[in-house]
Amino acid sequence: MCGIIGISSNKPVSASIISSLKKLEYRGYDSAGIATLFEGEIKEVKSEGRVNTLEQNFDLKNLKGNIGIGHVRWATHGIPNSVNAHPHSSHNVSVVHNGIIENSTILKKYLTTKGHIFKSQTDTEVIVHLITENLKSNELEEAIKKTLKQLHGSFALGIVFKDIPDLIVGARRGSPLAVGYGPSENYLGSDSYALKSMTNKITYLDDGEFCIIKKDQVLFFNEDGKKINKKILELSSDESSYDKGDFKHFMAKEIEEQPTTVKTGIKEYVDKTNSDINIYNFPWNINEINSITLIGCGTAYHSCLMAKYWFEELTQLDISIDIASEFRYRKNRFKKDTLYIFVSQSGETADTYAALDLCNKNNMKTCAVVNIIESSIARDANFVLPIHCGPEIGVASTKAFLGQILILYILALKLASLRNEINQKIYKEKIKDLQKLPNLIEKSLLIDNDIQAISSTFNEAKGSMFLGRGLSYPIALEGALKLKELSYVHAEGYPAGEMKHGPLALIEDGMPVVVLAPRDSYYKKTISNMQEVIARGAKVLLITNKSKDEIVSENIWETIEVENINDDLLPFLLTIPLQKLAYYSALKKGYDIDKPRNLAKSVTVE
Ligand code: G6P
Repeated sequence: MCGIIGISSNKPVSASIISSLKKLEYRGYDSAGIATLFEGEIKEVKSEGRVNTLEQNFDLKNLKGNIGIGHVRWATHGIPNSVNAHPHSSHNVSVVHNGIIENSTILKKYLTTKGHIFKSQTDTEVIVHLITENLKSNELEEAIKKTLKQLHGSFALGIVFKDIPDLIVGARRGSPLAVGYGPSENYLGSDSYALKSMTNKITYLDDGEFCIIKKDQVLFFNEDGKKINKKILELSSDESSYDKGDFKHFMAKEIEEQPTTVKTGIKEYVDKTNSDINIYNFPWNINEINSITLIGCGTAYHSCLMAKYWFEELTQLDISIDIASEFRYRKNRFKKDTLYIFVSQSGETADTYAALDLCNKNNMKTCAVVNIIESSIARDANFVLPIHCGPEIGVASTKAFLGQILILYILALKLASLRNEINQKIYKEKIKDLQKLPNLIEKSLLIDNDIQAISSTFNEAKGSMFLGRGLSYPIALEGALKLKELSYVHAEGYPAGEMKHGPLALIEDGMPVVVLAPRDSYYKKTISNMQEVIARGAKVLLITNKSKDEIVSENIWETIEVENINDDLLPFLLTIPLQKLAYYSALKKGYDIDKPRNLAKSVTVE
């Protein structure tokens, strides 16, 4: 989950590398560095911290060279400092790397016996010295092929050579890598987002492949070193969606974009005229599917949990959910009649991809619910349901969450209809209700003043809890995740009914507790659980939907009421105050909202 860029051009490249690195910071931002080739020398600059710090520390305008590589890091091996920052270089090779080399200790021992001296604590440095070693007795392509075979683990690499000054080598195994084509220059990048300001012509490397990039030519090779041809894709170039506009942070913009996210999703999948759902080219006969397993990480996992409730309510399908990092190593019983759904905003999360790969290798039916349609997960799943929410830049996911749960709800409804498990009148009513959502989300967004005042209490407390039952339980988990990601305060999501089995011991005088209690079938039960925490001193923020009925409780600290819609769709509205609560707590603390400490947007390592 580091970011890589490489440019081979007929003009100096350092300025373009810097601006691409700024776009790649969502992948990692604890250190940054650049290496260029100029007059037969590798010039390397790197520093701890953001790309801005690198710019402040070095006179990058005078960093000459028409070939260069750059890197933003999310530390795996070795603390974030300037020594461990990439690129790593020997006397004649410089490397940027995303991934983890699992046999680095063994390789380091071997290379030390050959006289190589290591400067950093990183696994990446073994790649540098291994290539240097292999170049002693092999031509370039042979040396690269041999090096890649010796490496265990995952990588995307960008490599430049002092003695072969007109090219960059790129290689991929397990971590994404793209090649871009420009006028008199060509590029290497972790993703199309980094390359988009320079080109809309892209080729993605597949696992095991490597490439040689010159300013006027790109060659691709398979893992046996055989030359191969690859397709060039043309990307749409909507640069405006990569801009914060008038917003202070991408997260604020992305929260406000949610009515559009939902509107777009509905436009893509809902046939308004016939009140029906269109899922084109679904590749399986509906009778072949008796169960569904949903898999994801982080927020995407919460979407899976949300979907479980909807699928179970609307269909007779057996539903399981799993965290990708657990699923990939468990002894799974793969079943032919199971549909495996992989949920991922980026489509590049290493654990989710590995889980998909495992299912594909077992010939299972695989479906991806993704935002980035050019991603590895989208390309390798049998079937893709895009969420179409546009680029999400803030590390903490907001609009992608609503986009994911929308598509999963739509899929649940459609499968219920195809399996004749829902009455057609109810089906059509639910589709009509869906269309009310964008407007209601818009109204739910108008709570900034209330939330701003409330957020201080969460910042000042030792910790907080987020409680919900049924459809509100996944939202409680997501609300707690948002608060801890952004505000660095302990926040725990819990099923409200489970409090008495342990967590109630945490409640003390003045502890803020968010209770999600919409007036659905769980309402009375949740209100009873709320009383139990109030009785033990909790300061309860109740989030419910509007009603004429009084809430049968005194001593509630604050109440936020969202709009009304059918129970299935209330989770969409309940999510909004929780996103804003996390946003405003972090804002008050002055934290970096779009790039919280220790995290990254796209987690392409295990
Ligand atoms: C990281 C991000 C989260 C995201 C998770 C899964 O941890 O910070 O916001 O939910 O990865 O990412 P994905 O791209 O697979 O949805």
